[in-house]
Amino acid sequence: MTDNVHDLTQKRLEAARLEQGLHKDGSAHRAVDHLLEGNVGAAVQELISDLGLPPATPEQMAEHAEAERARHDAELARCARDRRMQALEACGIRLRRQDYAAIAESSYQTTPAVQAVRRWWDETGPGAVLCLHGAPGTGKTFAAATLVAQHGGRGARSKHLARLAKSTWSEHVAELEDLIGFDGLLVVDDVGTEPDIDAAKAALFELIDERQGADGRTILTTNLLLKDGKPGERLIDRVCARTLSRLHGCARFEGFKDQTDMRKAKR
Ligand SMILES: Nc1ncnc2c1ncn2[C@@H]1O[C@H](COP(=O)(O)OP(=O)(O)OP(=O)(O)O)[C@@H](O)[C@H]1O
Ligand SMILES: [Mg+2]
Repeated sequence: MTDNVHDLTQKRLEAARLEQGLHKDGSAHRAVDHLLEGNVGAAVQELISDLGLPPATPEQMAEHAEAERARHDAELARCARDRRMQALEACGIRLRRQDYAAIAESSYQTTPAVQAVRRWWDETGPGAVLCLHGAPGTGKTFAAATLVAQHGGRGARSKHLARLAKSTWSEHVAELEDLIGFDGLLVVDDVGTEPDIDAAKAALFELIDERQGADGRTILTTNLLLKDGKPGERLIDRVCARTLSRLHGCARFEGFKDQTDMRKAKR
């Protein structure tokens, strides 16, 4: 009985193969036999020879798999680079044109400032503040931008915040509130360069005060140097005592005064 069923199946299969033009001596015919026996590798080899290609060796199969993996990895890297570029372009931090590409492609130097921001990001959590202070060209803004590219975020110059704080236009009020209330990484660049000192003091106090205890993390960059880890005269001049008191409670200070000016070095 079982033999009859087997014969019948074979006959039907044969008829189907003829109908499809799979001739008994052809490799496609043999490929079906291999599949019926569960031998997929042999079936693939038959089909390769049916296409007129030489049989694939194990080395060729491995080479093909390696090429596929490399193609996949390159595609993933391209997506990550695009994502970083989009984050940078949307964040509002002003960088030199070539810096955008270097950050998006991760082809930049691991400067002390870059190390400091990475350490701070890994070691702190919601509400943390980092104050990067140091001489011009030591890579403070660049380092902050590398974090934004990686984790998303927003940025604004301190003098822009001061202008918003001074304005009574509802759009400006809303923009300042939006920045202060942003629950991701916020970079306030160039603290201490604002022409209107009182407006700058007010904006920074508002920002630091509101963001205390909130989820967003904040980076301040400034040329105002600290003396022996304590605020120097210029910082005290430009940042009100109540802001400094709050910063001492929640901020990490990282200084780069002895680093070289990378702008000069690049010239
Ligand atoms: N990690 C880095 N890798 C490569 N180039 C860098 C890096 N950091 C900074 N640079 C180069 O140095 C230039 C100056 O860096 P950046 O603008 O961050 O300095 P800064 O400390 O913010 O200066 P300033 O106090 O004047 O605002 C950048 O435009 C960039 O070309
Ligand atoms: Mg800067």
